[in-house]
Amino acid sequence: MSQKRVLSGIQPTSDSFHLGNYLGAVKQWVELQDSHDAYYCIVDLHAMTVETDPKLMRKRTLTSAAQLLAFGISPEKATLFVQSQVPAHNQLGWVMECLTGFGEASRMTQFKDKSQKSGADTTRVGLFTYPMLMAADILLYQTNLVPVGEDQRQHIELTRDIAERFNSKYGKTFVIPEGYILKEGAKIFDIQDPTAKMSKSAGSGAGLIEIMDTPEANLKKIKSAVTDAGREVKFDAKEKPGISNLLSIHSALSGKSIKSLELEFDGKGYGDFKTSVAEVVVEYLRPIRSKALELLEDEPYLLTILHDGAQKASSVADKTLEQTYKNLGLVL
Ligand code: TYM
Repeated sequence: MSQKRVLSGIQPTSDSFHLGNYLGAVKQWVELQDSHDAYYCIVDLHAMTVETDPKLMRKRTLTSAAQLLAFGISPEKATLFVQSQVPAHNQLGWVMECLTGFGEASRMTQFKDKSQKSGADTTRVGLFTYPMLMAADILLYQTNLVPVGEDQRQHIELTRDIAERFNSKYGKTFVIPEGYILKEGAKIFDIQDPTAKMSKSAGSGAGLIEIMDTPEANLKKIKSAVTDAGREVKFDAKEKPGISNLLSIHSALSGKSIKSLELEFDGKGYGDFKTSVAEVVVEYLRPIRSKALELLEDEPYLLTILHDGAQKASSVADKTLEQTYKNLGLVL
């Protein structure tokens, strides 16, 4: 039996991924590559929906590839590629735009939040059509599973709606994908403001744990993480959002269950617990950062992996695009 297919994407919008990206998504990418036919995409076209600096775009795309490989994405097991190197993404993106209602797209909460923050004059049209390009990314590969964090749930719902609409109007063309969203860890919060999602665009950066940051800087940040009233180390997302977030992080990286961590820190204070979280995170990330820095020294190697990946991705994507065009009655 052939393996089910997995696809996911990540934006190269920063010099480093953060712990939310890893725990919400990339950790699952690494696990799923063993049992699935996996396609992982650095979505540089999505990153253009905000102001971009060409030098940074290039650097961050390569840094993204280095980090993904350092986390354990293996070019032998998974196809790692850059979105702009596979033109079918733009081509199917247009088809997706023509199948999406204006009202439907206007209901995307990420668009609403981001456009409200920056105002109508600076919001790009590309930010509005972003979810349709994401639908194309997914549908081109006849994807079964899409491992992402909680914040992408609505985009996957939209993708399913568009795919179902297309299939019923023009004949079965796309596999209907499903989100692969963890129950625990699908939303990692800012460690200074545990009511907000950990994100590169929010806050001062003090609440963001970045993979490429030095171990010393991350140790310091975690030791000064915000905690809650009381002294008990107990998971309670409502009453203790700070401690609950740190428990989720510890558990995901140490492999210990939340229950066993509560027992381990029973009677000990928040200080001891935060020290333990800091050590677990720093020791987990240390070899990953070193490996990524080492890979960045060898740009030709990174480029070869990405070019090979794009070739393989194109061969799958082009087939879906051709079938889509055919079903739409385009002259081929
Ligand atoms: P992006 O680049 O913002 O984030 C990459 C992945 O990280 C997850 N994530 C989080 N998970 C848990 N807690 C957090 N605080 C947190 N912050 C980010 C995201 O959910 C995501 O899985 N639109 C996508 C990129 C994309 C894509 C795709 C994904 C484009 N095409 C096709 C899947 C399939 C995005 O902006 O992710």
